[in-house]
Amino acid sequence: MAEPTIEAYYLEDRTFPPPPEFAANALTNDHSLYDQADADHQAFWAEQASQLEWFEPWTSVCEWKLPFAEWFVGGTLNVSVNCLDRHVAAGKGDKVAFHWEGEPGDTRTITYAELLDETQRFANVLKSLGVARGDRVNIYLPMIPEAVVAMLACTRIGAPHSVVFGGFSSEALRDRILDAEAKVLITADGGYRRGAVSPLKPNADAAVAETPSIEHVVVIQRTNNDVDMQDGRDHWYHEVMAEADPTCEPERMQAEDLLYLLYTSGTTGKPKGIMHTTGGYLTQVAFTHKYVFDLHPETDVYWCTADIGWVTGHSYIVYGPLANGATSVMYEGTPDTPDKDRFWDIAERYGVTLFYTAPTAIRTFMKWGTDFPARHDLTKLRLLGSVGEPINPEAWMWYQEHIGGGNCPIVDTWWQTETGAILIAPLPGVTTTKPGSATHPLPGIGAELVDEEGTRVDVGGGYLTLTQPWPAMLRGIYGDPDRYRETYWSKFGDRYFAGDGAKLDDDGYLWLLGRVDDVMNVSGHRVSTTEVESALVDHPTVAEAAVVGAKDDTTGQAIIAYVTLKGGNEPSDEHGQLLRKHVATKIGAIARPKTIIFTDDLPKTRSGKIMRRLLRDVAEGRVLGDTTTLADASVVEEIKRRAAETPTEE
Ligand code: WTA
Repeated sequence: MAEPTIEAYYLEDRTFPPPPEFAANALTNDHSLYDQADADHQAFWAEQASQLEWFEPWTSVCEWKLPFAEWFVGGTLNVSVNCLDRHVAAGKGDKVAFHWEGEPGDTRTITYAELLDETQRFANVLKSLGVARGDRVNIYLPMIPEAVVAMLACTRIGAPHSVVFGGFSSEALRDRILDAEAKVLITADGGYRRGAVSPLKPNADAAVAETPSIEHVVVIQRTNNDVDMQDGRDHWYHEVMAEADPTCEPERMQAEDLLYLLYTSGTTGKPKGIMHTTGGYLTQVAFTHKYVFDLHPETDVYWCTADIGWVTGHSYIVYGPLANGATSVMYEGTPDTPDKDRFWDIAERYGVTLFYTAPTAIRTFMKWGTDFPARHDLTKLRLLGSVGEPINPEAWMWYQEHIGGGNCPIVDTWWQTETGAILIAPLPGVTTTKPGSATHPLPGIGAELVDEEGTRVDVGGGYLTLTQPWPAMLRGIYGDPDRYRETYWSKFGDRYFAGDGAKLDDDGYLWLLGRVDDVMNVSGHRVSTTEVESALVDHPTVAEAAVVGAKDDTTGQAIIAYVTLKGGNEPSDEHGQLLRKHVATKIGAIARPKTIIFTDDLPKTRSGKIMRRLLRDVAEGRVLGDTTTLADASVVEEIKRRAAETPTEE
C-alpha cells in the first residue's frame, strides 16, 4: 500500500461561506441535521427512511454484524413505486421527469406518468421472457431513456439489474454476465457518439455467444444500423412493447433484497460485483440528493452528466432524482458535438439550475477556454457539483467563476461504488467551502483518518476509514464474501477502509488525495493496474507488463504501461499502437494506455516484486526515490532513457 502523499497544491486559506441568498432559501441552513444524527444515529436514518413509501414498516432500523449490515429489517417497499407511482398519485403525472436530448439533436420529454406507463409495460415484457423475482438482468445501453425504463422495470418485478457501461468491450460484458448469471440482456443497435454511430449489438452478440445463462436479448432501435437478430432469442423493444400489458403490479420487496449489482475494478484482475439492496440504498440516495443539491423539486432543473453505466448514473440520474420527484436533463453524447459549447447550450435551453459533473470534464472545459460557456446564459444555475476524483483548486475556482458566475456554491462530493451514496460533501446552505476540499462527512456518516497502525489521525495525512455502517453501503461482493471482508474490513479493525488517502487540515476539513492501492482513476473512472497488465500479457508478443497511473493535467491520472516483449519482437511505435488497441478491445477504450514504454527489464526487488513506485516516479518525471532494494539498479537508468524517448499519445 502506498503512503498517502500530500500535494502542495491545496489552498487552505481560501474560504467560501454559502451565498446569503442561497442560504436563506436552502432546505437546511443550520446544524440541526448534524445534531439530530449525532444525538441518535438510528432515529436519524429512520426519519429519512420514513420519507419513502413502504408497504409494511420495518421492525428494526439497523442490525450490524460486522462486516454485514441490514437496514430497515422487515420493511417492504418497491423502488419503482417510490420513483414513479407515488408522484403520479400525488397529481404530478404531468411533471417532466426527463428532458432527454440525443446527440444528433433529437429530443424527448418524458413525464412521470409516461415513465410509469413505459416501465410497467416493459416489466411485463421481462416477465413474458421468463424473468422472475430474483433473476438477474444485464443492461448494456447508451444514454437513452430506455436505459432508465429498463432499470425501473427490473425494480418493479424484483429482478436485480447489472448495468455494464456501453463503452466496455464484449469481453468485459461477457465476464460480467457470466458472474451475474443473467437471464436476459437489454441492449441497443447502437448509440451516437461524436457524430457517429457507435454500434453495441455486435459486442452484445459476441458476449452472448459465450454466456449460456442468457435466454433472451431485447434490442432497442436507436441508430438503425444493420444488426443480426437471432430468431427466438432476440426481440425488438418496440415490437414487444406494442403488445405488452399496460399494468404491472409492483413486487413487495424486502428492504434487504438485492436491488442491483454494479461491477467495479479492484486491485486484482477480476472486477467485483458490488451488491446494493433496496430500502437503505433508496433512503440514502434520496436523502443525499435532496440535501447535498438543495433540491427544490418544483422549480429546479437538475443535470448530472454521468453515464448510467457508473454508480453516479445509478444513484444521481435514476434513483435519487426520481425518488425525489425531480425534473432532470439527460444527454446522450459528448460535450464537443457539434461544438465545444454543447453542455452550455443544453444548460441554457432547459434552464438547468443544478449541475453535477466530474473534475476531468471541468479541466477539459478549462483547456477549451471561457468563450464556450460565455456564449450562453447560465444565470439560472444556482449550484454546482463535482464527483469522481479530487478536484484541484484551480479547476474549482474556474468552475465557480466561469460556469457558476461567481455565486453558486460548489459541492465536492466524495463517495464510491461501494458506498452507494455521497458520504463526504458540504451541505450547501450550511458549510463554508474551501476549493479542493470535500469538507466534512454528511450527517449520519462517521469518517476518520488513521495511520498505518490504525491509530486515529486528527490533523495531517492518513487513510480514510468509515466508522459506522450507513444505509446505502454495499452488502458484499457478489459470490465472494471472503473478498468482501478482506478488501474492506481487514486492514483497520472494525473500520471500513475506503482505499483513499486523505488529509485533515487545522480546521478539520478533509482533503481527498486519491487512491493508495493499485486502482487508477482515469477521467473519474476506476481502472485496475492488474486488469490492464493482464490484458497486455494476453497479447502473444508480450512477455511482461507493469502498469502505473501517472498524474495527468486533464484526466487526473493517465495509464502508463511498461512492456517487455518476447524475443523476436521489435519495439516500435506501430507495435505500441497495436498493444494499446489490444487493451481497448479486451477491456474498453477507457483502459487504453496513454503511453507504452518498451523496456528490456522491469525494476524488481530481490524477491521479484515489481517496484511500481519507481515506475510512477519515472512516469511523472520525478527524482527517483529509494532504489537500494532493487535487484539490478541499472534497469532504472535504462527505463528512464526509454521513457524520455517515447512519444505520448492523445
Ligand atoms: C475517487 C465514484 C476525491 C476516490 C462516485 C474513490 C473522489 C473513487 C471523489 C470511487 C471526490 C470519488 N474527491 N476523490 N469528490 N469522488 N473519488 O467507485 O478515489 O467510480 O475511492 O465512484 O473515486 O470511484 P467510483
